[in-house]
Amino acid sequence: MTDLSIKYLGLTLSSPVIAGSSDFTASVKQVVEMANAGAGAVVLKSVFEEQILMEIDAQRTNNMFESYTDNENHVAFYTRQHEVQAYLDLIRDAKKQAGIPVIASIHCSTNDSWVDFAKEIEKAGADAIELNIFILPSHVNETDLMITDRYMDIIGSVKKSTRLPVALKVHHYFTGMSNFMVNLSWQSNALVLFNRFFNPDINIDTMTIGSGDNFSQPSENGLVLRWIGILRPHVKGDLAATTGIHDGAAVVKNLLAGADVVQIATALYKSGPGVITRMNDFLKDWMQANNYQKIQDFRGKLSYAGAKNPALYERAQFMKYFSGLGR
Ligand SMILES: Cc1cc2nc3c(=O)[nH]c(=O)nc-3n(C[C@H](O)[C@H](O)[C@H](O)COP(=O)(O)O)c2cc1C
Repeated sequence: MTDLSIKYLGLTLSSPVIAGSSDFTASVKQVVEMANAGAGAVVLKSVFEEQILMEIDAQRTNNMFESYTDNENHVAFYTRQHEVQAYLDLIRDAKKQAGIPVIASIHCSTNDSWVDFAKEIEKAGADAIELNIFILPSHVNETDLMITDRYMDIIGSVKKSTRLPVALKVHHYFTGMSNFMVNLSWQSNALVLFNRFFNPDINIDTMTIGSGDNFSQPSENGLVLRWIGILRPHVKGDLAATTGIHDGAAVVKNLLAGADVVQIATALYKSGPGVITRMNDFLKDWMQANNYQKIQDFRGKLSYAGAKNPALYERAQFMKYFSGLGR
């Protein structure tokens, strides 16, 4: 019997394919659709600190709450409560109706205004929290240490506020990448690699900056495969792969590199919930063809565990290709 079940964040999932945070996980109806299609879990659409602030005052999205006068604070508090209530209802109802683990998601960049919300999420019945920590290292005066400290402060505050397992969804713009990822893994229960920024684009006719393609390409998954493969032997908790996973073959590749689960979004937008069923079917067929009964039988089989120095390993691959030796 082929068994697709896997442990993630201490929860038992019936499949390693998770519907990642997106519009497909923004309502109870959609969450149920994801469950019916065979998703092992859902990560709900994020509640955004910035989004809440934007509703209050579009001009002050960067100022955070301390810059508001008393009256404005009241408005801020009211609006925040309102948003929060809707999100908590979503958790409660999704839990009741979907029958699969529900992971709440908070999109954040500071360690204060949303920490209490983690407690409320726990009370509403979520199975875990995913923190999408969105700090683009774009300030020229902010050093790598200042940035990594901000991450640690955020995680520390949330961990104090809730007993739920916490996954960290992070980007890949770090100095000392492996070392920092391993440190993060000791402070959390899982790493979700990688957060995908919506990149800018420039319109040369209107001379304006806009946003580029919001959807990933399959080729973007190479970066994820590399870092999952490098980090697998060293991290403490679980690893979730996300970005560029569009079909069943990509699911298998990420598990072989060392991911416990995969999270998908673009594939849902392009193909609808049925893509989850097809991914599960492909995975099952591939496991049967290769005589694997459980995911654990092959998970991480192609990580970099055997490579003493992954940088040398990657350089050797590079030289093989560019020197013509590999042809
Ligand atoms: C339209 C859209 C909305 C998204 N909304 C969220 C969100 O609310 N919170 C979040 O953490 N990630 C969000 N994501 C990111 C996805 O969860 C995922 O990490 C990313 O798109 C990479 O996976 P993919 O290649 O399968 O799209 C969104 C992605 C898309 C395309």
